[in-house]
Amino acid sequence: MLSMPYRPSTKRNCWPHWRNEVVLSTVSTILANVPRGMPVSELRLLLGEVLGQPTVWLLTHGEAMVSIEQCLKLDELVNRRLGGEPMAYLLGYREFYGRKFTVSPAVLIPRPETELVVDIVKASVGAGALHGEMSASRSASTPSTLDLGTGSGCIAISIALECPRVKVTAVDLSLDALDVATTNQRKLNASVELIQSDWFTALDDRRFDIIVSNPPYVAEGDTHLEQGDLRFEPTQALSSGNDGLTALRKIISEAPTHLLSKGLLALEHGYDQAVAVRELLITAGFATITQHKDIAGIIRVSCGVLP
Ligand SMILES: C[S@@+](CC[C@H](N)C(=O)[O-])C[C@H]1O[C@@H](n2cnc3c(N)ncnc32)[C@H](O)[C@@H]1O
Repeated sequence: MLSMPYRPSTKRNCWPHWRNEVVLSTVSTILANVPRGMPVSELRLLLGEVLGQPTVWLLTHGEAMVSIEQCLKLDELVNRRLGGEPMAYLLGYREFYGRKFTVSPAVLIPRPETELVVDIVKASVGAGALHGEMSASRSASTPSTLDLGTGSGCIAISIALECPRVKVTAVDLSLDALDVATTNQRKLNASVELIQSDWFTALDDRRFDIIVSNPPYVAEGDTHLEQGDLRFEPTQALSSGNDGLTALRKIISEAPTHLLSKGLLALEHGYDQAVAVRELLITAGFATITQHKDIAGIIRVSCGVLP
């Protein structure tokens, strides 16, 4: 295939300066000129996305031509990446619990540490092995689970697919986030009831066997909000009051009126919030409290079981 003569971007400091004289671009010429500040793995992912091919395909198709339209699309993605935009938003997906979830700037990018919440629910309903005392503690034949602040739907949909006998409901305040969750539910063929709600408000007096949440928990004004991917993620998904505990306080205090007897509440929280969350769970009347570390050894998820 012949590509048209390539006219490089006229914008200063834009990639690719190196292609000024290039008329024909191939996979290997592009990958041989990684822009400064970008790992080659990211360039491969972006090129693969533009070509509609998996990155392994690039390894064996170095001579494949890249059209002018594809070069221009790649240039745009590379320059946005060099400007700090998260890879997940550029690619339009992020893997979570072994599945590809569509993401957009309307939702938080799923994090690997959040998979722990799914592990805990699996253990609790007897579909997986985690800490002994949680295993198979739920006897209901179809335990009900509520995911508060579902975002992309990654937690709710993973639970629905990993534990088919669990009936899953998920809420979010953001209609744009619920659109993304709906897309993922359809694409992954999961059965989840999606509801727009300000935490428990639209649920009236419904009760569940299990409530899970990865709520916003960063303190407003925390400098991390101005760094890395967080700059591009929705504020509503990240920050929660002066100390980051506003959403956690509300969820913990109201959860007992939406849980069945022996109901389980499992909450992800910040690296420095384990003590505060434990206190909040005790104050709200939860009897058995367990706290779980992520792969970095940080307590990330705290659980309470009602008496
Ligand atoms: C940290 S994100 C978690 C998203 C997803 N569950 C995950 O783990 O990737 C928090 C989510 O809570 C939602 N949220 C914030 N305030 C809310 C509220 N008052 N009621 C319901 N959802 C809310 C946000 O829109 C966002 O999707």
